Amino acid sequence: MAEERIEKAKQMRMFITFAAGIAGLLFGLDIGVISGALPFITTHFELTSRLQEWVVSTMMLGAALGSITTGWISYKLGRKKSLMTGAALFILGSIGSAFAINIVMLLISRVMLGFAVGIASYVAPLYLSEMSEKENRGKLISMYQMMVTLGILLAFISDTIFSYGGHWRIMLGIISLPALLLMFSVFGLPDSPRWLASKGNFVQAKNILKMLSTSDEKADAELQEINESLKVKQEGWSLFKENKNVRRAVYLGMLLQAMQQFTGMNVILYYAPQIFKHAGFANTEQQMIATVICGLTNACATLIAMKTVDKQGRKPILTIGFAGIAAGTFLLGLCLYMINAGFDAIWISILAVIMTLFTITSFAMSAGPVVWILCSEIQPLKSRDFGVACSTTTNWIANMLIGATFLTLINQFGIAVTFWIYTVLNILFVIFTILLIPETKGISLEKIEKNLMDGKRLRDIGN
Ligand code: BGC
Repeated sequence: MAEERIEKAKQMRMFITFAAGIAGLLFGLDIGVISGALPFITTHFELTSRLQEWVVSTMMLGAALGSITTGWISYKLGRKKSLMTGAALFILGSIGSAFAINIVMLLISRVMLGFAVGIASYVAPLYLSEMSEKENRGKLISMYQMMVTLGILLAFISDTIFSYGGHWRIMLGIISLPALLLMFSVFGLPDSPRWLASKGNFVQAKNILKMLSTSDEKADAELQEINESLKVKQEGWSLFKENKNVRRAVYLGMLLQAMQQFTGMNVILYYAPQIFKHAGFANTEQQMIATVICGLTNACATLIAMKTVDKQGRKPILTIGFAGIAAGTFLLGLCLYMINAGFDAIWISILAVIMTLFTITSFAMSAGPVVWILCSEIQPLKSRDFGVACSTTTNWIANMLIGATFLTLINQFGIAVTFWIYTVLNILFVIFTILLIPETKGISLEKIEKNLMDGKRLRDIGN
């Protein structure tokens, strides 16, 4: 009997991880899919550079709107219904983009998809952290980031397959299949006991906890803990207005996410085929295969990062990562500069690909996972929801800005100088990291909060 219960609880937790993982996968699929589809969409609708940028960045606009509003939606409707809303929007947005009869319909569908991504990027990690046992919390959140990179990779592979016939509509439409899978899985999910308890629904919260726990004692203890933590009321906005130290933490989270995006990593992911075209890979097939290699590198480097981030510490990893991206974008710019100046040696194109992969690796092993981890660690408990919502929204707004300016920058300054602009920014980020970012490895969240509230310098709040 006891064994059967343990087995059932294990299965339920696995199912929860699977469903939230699908949300991460969709997040990645939607980020990844556009790079391969864009060249065909551009030809089909005869798009200018400005409109191409909008096709890429309207999704980020939707995601920024989604992450601003989701705090409220997920509080009102609960995590489960929010995920369901997200899944429905994923389906509508994918089908709408696939059948777009004009550019306006495509842009509207992209905003809808973005809204779904905004919901997924806020609710799924939150749901996971609320449904997991505390020993597994960190692992589950890294697993979610891993699913995002896997989604990007799968999108690149599917784009490559459909690029042979130029089938951009299928590239965009096929994403509705995992979205349907998400919809069906979410039906089977229990609501978060923490959310139910916050709404005063203790009986149902307890029943779900019993289903997830291996014994009634464990379920009772967990409910007790939830009740304790609910005593800490979320007062993000009022604390933000009143307390200078809370503001410092919120601004630090926003700075971290802005730095993550202005590394230029997503420019490489969104515009990879165009970059490879500049590097001299003339045919679409070569460009698409090089793009798949980018996705694979990103996923593998994230896997390594998951294993090292708790051992090496956040600050050295971030410093080395930004320095690596600065070096990578500098050399990539140099290669592209030489190619444009008429040097057509094959080794320059190969070096350009190597530098692209080096830049991706430097990001995936540092700013990719570390920024998300730091953002959840530095916010004081009472304003954590508010702080994380501010930093997540900053991520999407910055993401939109870089997506919306890349081609304009290329037209204005040329591709080499555009990458050198990212080089300069990454050098600045090395300096910011040394001066402002704390080391939080192995320090309890309570200690970080106390240091922050005592007014210690930001870079010292982890000491
Ligand atoms: C970033 C995304 C990025 C992804 C790449 C995430 O941490 O927030 O913008 O596309 O990493 O793997």
